[in-house]
Amino acid sequence: MSINKQQVRTALTHVMHPEMGKDLVTLNTIEDLIVQDKFIAFTIDLPEKNPKLDNKLKEMCREAIHKYVDSEAVLDITTAVNISKFRDDSEQQESEAFPGQGHRKKKEEQEPDEILGGVDNVIAVASGKGGVGKSTVAVNLACGLARTGAKVGLLDTDIYGPSIPTMFGTHERPNITAQKKLIPLEKHGVKFLSMGLLVDPDQAMIWRGPMVTSAVKQFMQEVEWGELDYLVLDLPPGTGDIQLTLVQTVPLTGAVVVSTPQTVALDDARKGVAMFKKVNVPVLGIVENMAYFIPPDMPEKKYYIFGKHGARNLAERMGSNFLGEIPLEQSVRESGDDGKPIVLEENLESESARAFVELSNNVIQQLAIRNKEQDPTQKIDIKIKP
Ligand SMILES: Nc1ncnc2c1ncn2[C@@H]1O[C@H](COP(=O)(O)OP(=O)(O)O)[C@@H](O)[C@H]1O
Ligand SMILES: [Mg+2]
Repeated sequence: MSINKQQVRTALTHVMHPEMGKDLVTLNTIEDLIVQDKFIAFTIDLPEKNPKLDNKLKEMCREAIHKYVDSEAVLDITTAVNISKFRDDSEQQESEAFPGQGHRKKKEEQEPDEILGGVDNVIAVASGKGGVGKSTVAVNLACGLARTGAKVGLLDTDIYGPSIPTMFGTHERPNITAQKKLIPLEKHGVKFLSMGLLVDPDQAMIWRGPMVTSAVKQFMQEVEWGELDYLVLDLPPGTGDIQLTLVQTVPLTGAVVVSTPQTVALDDARKGVAMFKKVNVPVLGIVENMAYFIPPDMPEKKYYIFGKHGARNLAERMGSNFLGEIPLEQSVRESGDDGKPIVLEENLESESARAFVELSNNVIQQLAIRNKEQDPTQKIDIKIKP
């Protein structure tokens, strides 16, 4: 028999909060409950961060569910700080009396992922369509940013088709700190992690949107990124529920949309731009990948095999920036397969290496403009209705 949400809630009434003296359901602390076959995910809202207590509560929940619901249930429990839920009336009045202070409090509430607190800019690389070179752009952008001496991280959130381990030539499993945080791998001066290294791909295929989101959220909170100037996210292709939820879960500074010049890809890129606008994530611009083909034996030639300037024109029509064009070159594919992104060519011999350097510079410039003109993007906490 499959598990239902009511059974989970009932089991959690047996978990008493050690300090507040009431059970987690009575305290109204359980949020985002998802049940799918034997997989159960939820968030426990708490008044403050307390890693020791958080872990204890998670363990108590685990025990209760295994005892009262199903001994084989697979659990994904997250804790989040939600000050407003636990604020008593006197504090409420105080913040109303001092609106400025109240506002600051609100901001605190909205930033429970302290982990990304050390990250200055979170950049999503997205595309409407798969196979347009999104991962290639994400990897070369990360390495291009690192070439400037910046501290860079790269997270592959594409659990259905992770390609960063191959493009970085590393399939190691990351280590874990004493505090149970994942330590990113490091190569080419970039800290990176791929959810594909930790999630069984066959298992991932049956995940629905909320599970992916919950896994990504956990990644964000439980990875020791440290101080970063840029964190580049390689998003799964498409503009469906998964992507929409994802881009709202993470406080994105901006998005880079990748397209080829082909009409079919452009239609999807348009949807990508629209998706980010809908959720108020600034689009830093559009990149045209596979803009033209350069034959290895005739590097002076350019063949516009997928059409000419499609993405450039789209950017203009949509009022977005055009971040650059990357040629279709055999060496781009080869360097991806060999685990050494082309942008790392020491003397930038190939045109695509130079194009990726230019792309990275344009992204840095657009970020500077965006950070000057706009407030940080607010993360929206998605509440999944029980
Ligand atoms: N500019 C390019 N020149 C040559 N090959 C490319 C280029 N961009 C991507 N590729 C190749 O195309 C394939 C798909 O690219 P990938 O980055 O994995 O796409 P996506 O992440 O959008 O699915 C890969 O084999 C990659 O090496
Ligand atoms: Mg990819």
